[in-house]
Amino acid sequence: MDLILLGPPGAGKGTQATTIAAKYGLIQLSTGEMLRAAAAAGTEVGRQAKAIMDKGELVPDEVVIRIISERIDQPDCKGGVIFDGFPRTLAQASALDKLLRDKKRKLDAVIELRVDDTKLVERIVGRFTCAKCGAGYHDRFKRPKVRGVCDVCQGTEFTRRPDDNAETVTRRLMVYYRETAPLTGYYYCKGNLRAVDGMAAIEQVGQEIGAVLDAVK
Ligand code: AP5
Ligand code: MG
Ligand code: ZN
Repeated sequence: MDLILLGPPGAGKGTQATTIAAKYGLIQLSTGEMLRAAAAAGTEVGRQAKAIMDKGELVPDEVVIRIISERIDQPDCKGGVIFDGFPRTLAQASALDKLLRDKKRKLDAVIELRVDDTKLVERIVGRFTCAKCGAGYHDRFKRPKVRGVCDVCQGTEFTRRPDDNAETVTRRLMVYYRETAPLTGYYYCKGNLRAVDGMAAIEQVGQEIGAVLDAVK
């Protein structure tokens, strides 16, 4: 099963992709995570991407298409993937169509997480991540069970993304509406789009996505 999670910054793509990946045995392919890993490793691509990401702009299409194309060829992706944060432009969507066709894969669903803009900023500025295992949290909506200790790996260090400030979020939102929002129309016309109410609590959104996936499976 191959899926796309579509939605603005802070909609809950990463949160939901992690749970669905574990539940359905899929691999989460987050271009944002891959680019942040490249930046942390100090590669040339990572260095260039970091400067763009810190401004809230999009990394060039050819860079992310190449990253996805190489990653999906790895054996663990055979059983199915969840694209999280990709595609983000019409050019990326059309490159993905070709890529999946060439690799004889089929897109089963495109799940659009719908969240009001005012909520997005609140979600993003409160987000933090375990420095050791990458588990995601929120100051108000998803606190670790024991304060200061990661639920998953018991790590005690946490990080915040450099692009998670109110100013950059506004830029990311503008870029989303200009470049990525048209993809809902693109996938609606292809018959793949399934909208889910992303305003509900994390578990409830997960249940709604689960119902969609059980129907398309
Ligand atoms: P990326 O990492 O993809 O960031 P994004 O799209 O801006 O999305 P986020 O990761 O911020 O949000 P999310 O939807 O994953 O929300 P989350 O689950 O964490 O991309 C970063 C940058 O990389 C881009 O700006 C661009 O520069 C570059 N890039 C990446 N892909 C690219 C591409 N394809 N092409 C070009 N450039 C690319 O949730 C947010 C918070 O809310 C968390 O704290 C969570 O706990 C909380 N939360 C989640 N769901 C709920 C809920 N239902 N109720 C309450 N709180 C919730
Ligand atoms: Mg994310
Ligand atoms: Zn952890």
